[in-house]
Amino acid sequence: MTAFKELVGIEAAKYVKNGMVVGLGTGSTAHYFVEELGRRIKEEGLEITAVTTSSVTSAHAEHLGIPLKNIREVESVDLTVDGADEVDSVFNGIKGGGGALLMEKVVATYTKDYIWIVDESKMVEQLGTFKLPVEVVQYGAENLLRHFTVKGYQPTFREQDGKRFVTDMQNFIIDLDLKKIEDPKVLAQELDATVGVVEHGLFNGMVNKVIVAGKDGVKVLESGK
Ligand code: A5P
Repeated sequence: MTAFKELVGIEAAKYVKNGMVVGLGTGSTAHYFVEELGRRIKEEGLEITAVTTSSVTSAHAEHLGIPLKNIREVESVDLTVDGADEVDSVFNGIKGGGGALLMEKVVATYTKDYIWIVDESKMVEQLGTFKLPVEVVQYGAENLLRHFTVKGYQPTFREQDGKRFVTDMQNFIIDLDLKKIEDPKVLAQELDATVGVVEHGLFNGMVNKVIVAGKDGVKVLESGK
């Protein structure tokens, strides 16, 4: 729902203060957060530096005149706002629907306050209905696909315009059709230990706040950590 995405994007931008280093997420929801920051810079004189999580977001931010740095130039990020594909009640989540999971996880790792913005359809009891994106090196990617097939993970290479999708970091994405993820932490450990996997879309307990919009309005959920 576009209206919900816009609502949470604008709400999240209220957490941004002068002088902050801000992480800009990727996707159709984060888009509205970036738009609102652009507006605040132009109309309110907000002064920030941003780091981005994809080439698409970089282009959008540059277009809006948001000052950018590379993640390597900052010691830490004060606040990052990003979308998510699924979120459970203990703040585990799936990301990477837009293929930017690697850069998103790098930026999230160096972030002090990490916020997700979602519409209520993304809140789930159990992760796994959304296919889990796994970013893999190109070398041996077919072998990895076979490995995941044998494990029963129903993997497919992501495609775009009839060709295999290549990420900003020049890797492939394999989407795993798991239906239900019984234990996100165990699965994350397994994928972390799989040769050829660069990163996966399980973001377990990384986020501090989830801003959710639905028919009853906007709610801010805080993690217990
Ligand atoms: C990008 O790779 C993703 O992690 C997005 O943040 C996620 O897919 C949510 O995207 P939407 O806001 O477009 O649903």
